Amino acid sequence: MSEFVEMLPANTVSTGSRLGIQYMDKLKKLPLQYIETKFQLISLDPLVLFDHKGIILDVNEATVKTTGRSRKELTGTLFADNFTDPARAHNGAMLVFETGEVRDYELVMKGSKGVETIVSYNASVYKDQEGEVLGAFAAARDITERRHAEDEIQNLQHYNRGLIEASLDPLVTFDRKGIILDVNEATVKATGRSRKELIGTPFADYFTDPARAHKGAMLVFETGEVRDYELVMKGSKGAETIVSYNASLYKDQKGIVVGVFAAARDITALKRSQAELLRERDKVKESMRKLVEMQERLVRSERFAAIGEAASYLSHEIKNPLMVIGGLAAQVERAISTHHAECRKLEIVRGEIKRLESMLMDVRDFTRPSKPQKELLDMNSAIEKTLALMENDLTARGINCEKLLDRRLPLLFFDPEQIKQVLINLTKNAVEAMPDGGRLVISSGLENEHVIVSITDSGIGMSPEATRKMFDPFFTTKKRGTGLGLAVSCKIMEDHEGEISVQSKEGKGTTVRVLLPINTGPNQDAQLE
Ligand SMILES: Nc1ncnc2c1ncn2[C@@H]1O[C@H](COP(=O)(O)OP(=O)(O)O)[C@@H](O)[C@H]1O
Ligand SMILES: [Mg+2]
Repeated sequence: MSEFVEMLPANTVSTGSRLGIQYMDKLKKLPLQYIETKFQLISLDPLVLFDHKGIILDVNEATVKTTGRSRKELTGTLFADNFTDPARAHNGAMLVFETGEVRDYELVMKGSKGVETIVSYNASVYKDQEGEVLGAFAAARDITERRHAEDEIQNLQHYNRGLIEASLDPLVTFDRKGIILDVNEATVKATGRSRKELIGTPFADYFTDPARAHKGAMLVFETGEVRDYELVMKGSKGAETIVSYNASLYKDQKGIVVGVFAAARDITALKRSQAELLRERDKVKESMRKLVEMQERLVRSERFAAIGEAASYLSHEIKNPLMVIGGLAAQVERAISTHHAECRKLEIVRGEIKRLESMLMDVRDFTRPSKPQKELLDMNSAIEKTLALMENDLTARGINCEKLLDRRLPLLFFDPEQIKQVLINLTKNAVEAMPDGGRLVISSGLENEHVIVSITDSGIGMSPEATRKMFDPFFTTKKRGTGLGLAVSCKIMEDHEGEISVQSKEGKGTTVRVLLPINTGPNQDAQLE
């Protein structure tokens, strides 16, 4: 028995001073037992007295029950021996003497038949009248049930957390101000930021359009939920993820709104394939358009051939009589005096003969175009030469001409005479479309392996109907037009494997574009034959 018991004074326990002298002996030996039996102060919590070495001085009935060992067995043994972790128990016991008290010190008490009880200790030293420490008084509270309940809650939380973490979709909760409360691993991955970095920062900060993200976040508080809200999430290293959010309010047990729970779905791949689909659709559309165009061209060239044959026959038939008429007119003119009243009429006859002759030349160009004699040449100089030829016409009509020539154009193969004819035809049409002056822009440039020349006027423009027919041979809206200029130009471009296209707006003006491939050689036609 320890010395402490010998020294235990009557007033150690609060009721001590009022105890009768006859109980003093018992009290000195086993104070807890004494109190319990004498005053029926039966504590349900296990109580233990131990000395500064951790040796048990006395225990109460509850300790006996919990440990399954008798008072006699326990007294004089180490307090720490009754726990699954004796070292921790001993440390706790010693801590009481060091600091005077210990609160909520958890230990697992070993019971009989292997039953374990989780207890939480409150312990303090007790002193004699002189203030000298006599020992420690420790009261345990059985918290096994509470702990099990807590464990269960924790397990449940763990389970919920597990579900959240298992989600491949980035999940976020945020408060009324849009400040992030929590995130799952998928969000960490998507943003490339740690959970710690994310929590406490504005939700909106992680999107390319923070204003829209914030608006979406606030919308949830206004309407209770938001569906399919698309945002672009900024990832680490500039990677961007297109996400679609579904978000709703979440409440605590009392039904008070705590924040928003938002789940994002990565729809980047979906968006990408949608864009791809659109692109493919556009490609199909473009191919369709080309096909229709090709068919039109085919029909046109067939028609051209037929018209060409007729024109060739007619021009041949007209040419000889026209020469006879011209010759006879010249004879008559010589026979009469220059002051004769009919002289004026003869002049008109000659003028008309000239016009018909020039028309026949156009017809000849159209029906029997010579094969292009291609040389490696510079398109810009062809443009310059054409404009030099047209200069008088331009100034006479008060037309302002602007050249925008790309000086880096590569040389390309073309027949200089034929291409000059095309450029003259187009420029003439532009000039004729601006009877009251205007602006003419000629530009050259390189696009997808093609040299492009475009001629834009600010003239009268064309109706859609005229635009459709303009390349037809003999289609003209001019009093003295032949309607052959564009048909011939079209044929020449075809012989150069080039293209010619038009954009026009009535009353606004017209742009004609000529396209020539840069990679054709001089003898391609020869090779084909
Ligand atoms: N730049 C243009 N602006 C307005 N209409 C044009 C233009 N170019 C051609 N056209 C239209 O196309 C028709 C055919 O042109 P074209 O084949 O050169 O024959 P022509 O000039 O002899 O009429 C013209 O009569 C005119 O109606
Ligand atoms: Mg013309």
